[in-house]
Amino acid sequence: MGRKPHRDPQDPLSPQPLTAPLPEVIAESRIRPVSFEEFVGQRQHIENLRVYVSAARARGGAVDHILFSGPPGLGKTTLSHIIAAEMGTTIHRTSGPAVEHKGMLAGLLTNLNRGDVLFIDELHRLPKVVQESLYSAMEDFKLEVLIGEGPHAQAIIMDLAPFTLVGATTRSGLLTAPLRTRFGIPIRLEFYGPDDLTEIVLRSAGRQGIAIAPEGALEIGRRSRGTPRIAIRLLARVRDFSEVSGAGIIDRKVAASALARLEVDEAGLDPTDRAYLTLIIERFGGGPAGIEAIAAGMGEERDTLEEVCEPYLLQQGYIQRTPKGRIASRVAFSHLGFSPPATHYMPTLFSDLDERE
Ligand SMILES: Nc1ncnc2c1ncn2[C@@H]1O[C@H](COP(=O)(O)OP(=O)(O)OP(=O)(O)O)[C@@H](O)[C@H]1O
Ligand SMILES: [Mg+2]
Repeated sequence: MGRKPHRDPQDPLSPQPLTAPLPEVIAESRIRPVSFEEFVGQRQHIENLRVYVSAARARGGAVDHILFSGPPGLGKTTLSHIIAAEMGTTIHRTSGPAVEHKGMLAGLLTNLNRGDVLFIDELHRLPKVVQESLYSAMEDFKLEVLIGEGPHAQAIIMDLAPFTLVGATTRSGLLTAPLRTRFGIPIRLEFYGPDDLTEIVLRSAGRQGIAIAPEGALEIGRRSRGTPRIAIRLLARVRDFSEVSGAGIIDRKVAASALARLEVDEAGLDPTDRAYLTLIIERFGGGPAGIEAIAAGMGEERDTLEEVCEPYLLQQGYIQRTPKGRIASRVAFSHLGFSPPATHYMPTLFSDLDERE
């Protein structure tokens, strides 16, 4: 089949993956929440983080190291910035693949002041040797550095300012145990419910001066795959449609017809989701289907499917992951208008097992 939608990253209306970073046309800095107060949802995590931050401030120290995990677009980067802002300290940003060797890590660590946040995005892609020198930095704020080269090289131990390492990953299963266990505060961000997403759409519309009715915001929010980034992106696209069609305000009808044109269905599934489910159902009789076979059949990257597409389908019960592969549920069959085979095997025992993680 090899179906792959054509994507033009410059065109905000082209069917690029909805979780891709937001294009420049959306002024990210204007809509990004900058305090705990402005951050919508994830209440339990936010309340806990508030406590950790105020305790650290009272002690004049740093918050314990934090690991944010979860699917793309749920607010990991945003929260890292908020933590530094609430601490009144500075955030230093990098990403796993960018820290190529120990020397680069040393450069970053020795630049930190007391209470600063070192944010490492895509932590699962941090090279192994760099991870190892991170351990003692995280544990005792000490760093071993080599001065000189060859036989005359000398190891010295440098003291670092107490800092907070904030790691973000979409694939916590790929982190090594020694690294994962050094984070005192592991936080797994979950998909947002329709109420939170509606609130996010309303706030983001307010900041951008977009006229929207609450029912219009709800229509976008409930069809955003549980993801704030998608809600914000859909709002921008719906706004384009409503402006071009001359609608003064985005109400439910305007939102629904724009979403239909964007091929986001009633349940919020996008063309990739539907292609994924259709492939399992049509080609593999509902599964089990191996992820490599699905990826090959769709002409998609396996990683993209595992990080972006599958988490929401799993959470919504469209698929299950078993040691033998992915299985489409009855919900998936009926959503796409197929009737499930009488013998359709749907194990529930292994639903948490994955082929790789
Ligand atoms: N709880 C929230 N309330 C309001 N806006 C939010 C919230 N969470 C995320 N956003 C907005 O959604 C967008 C995506 O958030 P962010 O970049 O922090 O996600 P992420 O988890 O770091 O994604 P990735 O894994 O792709 O790096 C941002 O524009 C951010 O402002
Ligand atoms: Mg991010």
